[in-house]
Amino acid sequence: MRKRILVANWKMNYDFHETTSFIRNLLKVFFDRKINHDKEIILSPSFPFLHISNQILQGSSLNIAAQNIHQKNKGPYTGEISASMLKSIGIQKVILGHSERRELFFENNQILLEKIKIALKYDFNIIFCVGESLVERKNNKQFEIIKKQLEKTVFYCSSDDIKFFYIAYEPIWAIGTGKTATFEQVQVMHEFIRSLFLEKYGKNISDNIPILYGGSINDINAKNFFSQKDVDGGLIGNASLQFEKFLKIIQS
Ligand code: 13P
Repeated sequence: MRKRILVANWKMNYDFHETTSFIRNLLKVFFDRKINHDKEIILSPSFPFLHISNQILQGSSLNIAAQNIHQKNKGPYTGEISASMLKSIGIQKVILGHSERRELFFENNQILLEKIKIALKYDFNIIFCVGESLVERKNNKQFEIIKKQLEKTVFYCSSDDIKFFYIAYEPIWAIGTGKTATFEQVQVMHEFIRSLFLEKYGKNISDNIPILYGGSINDINAKNFFSQKDVDGGLIGNASLQFEKFLKIIQS
């Protein structure tokens, strides 16, 4: 049985005080309200706050993920952050391939493959995002697009490496728009993604690879997404910035 996984992607939103007080409050509320969190909960603050966030969470069951890494490990790359730097402060997870990185920072499949390789070299778990645009969906190209995104990146990895991955299906048209994919659209795509893993890596990996949905998840719709057979949890943007909403999502 696959575990439910919730990833809060805070993007470029919270500052130091907002980040640390959110995390401290979350731990306090878990404790005070005796919230049973048998889920895997991963918070993804901005780079400057990863270290302190990780320290606050020491000894808890919650984890931290970085929102990106650079594809090289060292050198003249002003402003960039490497996998080994993050590893040196105890970070073990990273989000790669988010559509905002692909679109706004021109990260193509080749760059993403390099990022995957360096992340694996440093034993990171990778939350790897795939998703189609609205035009691609309107032209019924979504399956082709997702397949290609996986074939050009994740599918270069060995079966041993695949165990380090979570896949997140995030249709671009549903991110931050309030427009969600229907539960059925999401289930169909997740089933398709699982079938690609079956074809490429066999039943054991396909049965166990966590596939998360992301795109306008909130406290009202979360339960329905999470009850779909092939949806193992969510990658949550806006709603994860609102404390009580995120708490409700955790309890969905
Ligand atoms: P929203 O939940 O704000 O749509 O964002 C989804 C997302 O991009 C998470 O990575």
